[in-house]
Amino acid sequence: RKDDGEIELMRAAVDATIVGQRAAAGTVRAGVREGAVEGVVYAAFRNEGAEGLAFPSIVGSGFNATTLHYDQNAGVCGDGELVVVDIGARYGYYCGDLTRTYPADGRFTDRQRSLYDLVLEAHDRVADAIRPGITIFELRKIAYGVFQDSSLRDRHGERLGQYFLHGLGHFLGLDAHDPGGDSVELEPGMVITNEPGLYLPDEATGIRLEDDHVVTLTGNENLSAGLPIRADEVLEMMHRD
Ligand code: GLY
Ligand code: MN
Ligand code: MN
Repeated sequence: RKDDGEIELMRAAVDATIVGQRAAAGTVRAGVREGAVEGVVYAAFRNEGAEGLAFPSIVGSGFNATTLHYDQNAGVCGDGELVVVDIGARYGYYCGDLTRTYPADGRFTDRQRSLYDLVLEAHDRVADAIRPGITIFELRKIAYGVFQDSSLRDRHGERLGQYFLHGLGHFLGLDAHDPGGDSVELEPGMVITNEPGLYLPDEATGIRLEDDHVVTLTGNENLSAGLPIRADEVLEMMHRD
């Protein structure tokens, strides 16, 4: 659990991370190297007064976005590809950890948009459910259910739950992956990430959306509510229309 002073430092870490995401949104485009996006994010963090990174930045375009913890950032954002940007600033020793997924050319295909909106629905359902007493494991079941119950299918006609390849989130604080497991009952003052994702290597498509939430007495506060997440708002943030 974080006390009020720690929560203020976490707000600063998350706010700096939001600035980094806005810089990434303005930089991602077809033909730009993943490493260039990484560099712009780092400059934005430092300009916000952050000491540096909470973890190595992840910028993965197309197939690279389906590789968890991909941090080589050695590829080029390709036309028609989705780009996962998972970044965190370290500020006053506390960590932010936010992910957004951007279409490299500023437009979603119908398929990309359907998958994006499904990940967003999982994210929103979890955000509504974060409160004292629930566990991260139970929150994952909510997100998995959204994927499994969807009418969307993979290329073989199979349901999508199997493509949610990781946990729903983790505790966040002095470490990006702070101590505390999936079966800990949440208490006010705890901070966790909410990061559902779908990874379809057959379609060279990965989508992850990640916000940081502090548990309150009655529910939670999304510390990253100031960063657009709905598809139309994300496109607007990319300044492409
Ligand atoms: N960037 C690592 C994570 O989101 O957990
Ligand atoms: Mn992350
Ligand atoms: Mn995370």
